[in-house]
Amino acid sequence: MAKVAMLGTGFIGDFYTFSLHGQRNRDRVHIVYSRDKDRGKAFAAKHGISRWTTSMKEAIADPEVEVVVIALPNNRHLEAVLMAAEAGKAVFCTKPLGCNAREAKQMLDAVEKALVMHGYMEDLVYTPKTLKALHSVRSGAIGDVIWARSRETHPGPHSDWFWTKEISGGGVLLDMGCHCIEIARNYIGKDIKPVEVICWAETLVKPIEAEDNALGWVRYENGAIGQFEVSWSFRGGMDLRDEVMGTDGTIWVNNFLRTGFEMFTAGGKGGYVAEKAETEKGWIFPVGDEVVELGYTDMFTDMFRAFENKTEAKETFYDGYVVNEIMDACYRSAKTKKWEPVKLEVWRGREKTSPINAIRDYDAGHLLVKEETMPDGRVKLILKDKKTGKITQQER
Ligand SMILES: NC(=O)c1ccc[n+]([C@@H]2O[C@H](COP(=O)([O-])OP(=O)(O)OC[C@H]3O[C@@H](n4cnc5c(N)ncnc54)[C@H](O)[C@@H]3O)[C@@H](O)[C@H]2O)c1
Repeated sequence: MAKVAMLGTGFIGDFYTFSLHGQRNRDRVHIVYSRDKDRGKAFAAKHGISRWTTSMKEAIADPEVEVVVIALPNNRHLEAVLMAAEAGKAVFCTKPLGCNAREAKQMLDAVEKALVMHGYMEDLVYTPKTLKALHSVRSGAIGDVIWARSRETHPGPHSDWFWTKEISGGGVLLDMGCHCIEIARNYIGKDIKPVEVICWAETLVKPIEAEDNALGWVRYENGAIGQFEVSWSFRGGMDLRDEVMGTDGTIWVNNFLRTGFEMFTAGGKGGYVAEKAETEKGWIFPVGDEVVELGYTDMFTDMFRAFENKTEAKETFYDGYVVNEIMDACYRSAKTKKWEPVKLEVWRGREKTSPINAIRDYDAGHLLVKEETMPDGRVKLILKDKKTGKITQQER
């Protein structure tokens, strides 16, 4: 059993604590930090936590605390990580790791210097469907991944600070692009270097300084593309979907909104339906167990297991740093409207990945371009002559 200091009592602090204390879990929040005395006290009472404090330092320094979980607004991650590292405590930080890559690198350096275990809490790579899909990809079920598309759109976040650039560090690209980028990176292969990006990001709907919609492509060294689509102005709930195209197969994952659980209610469900749901009447899309389906349960299992076994979590601060570098490049590209390089100060993956090559021999003299069964039953073969390069067709 590990004892946790929970920093933050907002939306994600609640989700994390529900997940940690859910089922018959053994890890417990021992102390909670909130700036506000009443909120801290109420949070502790709601979750059965023995201690609360308005001092971040006191929460981290508590002698019984072994793991610090950061659930604070983006601009307070750095300070909290530095404090946890200095205190020699393991630290798990929510997404995005930093407001930018400079901050993320400082955090990575601090935990590595202090030799404390670290976890980047990117829950969406731990959803049960994503874990299973990733397992299939790693075992070769869809060949080489050439395109991974990830979408997260909803009607916008739930607190003022997200909409305030000085606190959040950016708009929807930073807030939700980080999820999609890391999902695509997992499918394509975290050891394959992201080399350049092109991104469109604009403020279309909301009266804010930062972008409320963004789309982008991340090109990897082997030629694969990670595509992200994020919006803070999508209507109808929270849409979380991924599509993966491999040389030998395809995966579609629908994590939220349309997952096969649909309900019609004329009178209303009486309150909360699911994260970012816009209605509680009519056709609604509840979620069975949100903390499981959004990946929190498997994420904490992986991170606490790694903590106990003194190994690395699947998602570390290094991953958070790479994601921040990709997003910094996206912000540059949104300004220049050109492909921009990803400037990784530290790269720990493979050097020089060769391009994806799924071209197959048909026979000694030909490469196979395409084989198709036609409506009348004929099987057509499109072949390329290896010597002349000429493309011809024949029936088999
Ligand atoms: N799926 C996910 O992983 C996920 C989902 C939502 C939020 N988050 C991340 O979690 C973090 C917190 O987001 P949230 O949704 O819980 O926000 P929130 O507004 O619901 O809660 C933030 C908490 O921090 C407190 N707070 C605000 N300003 C503070 C300050 N200056 N100093 C100390 N405490 C302060 C608030 O009172 C509140 O308790 C953000 O980094 C966000 O990106 C992650």
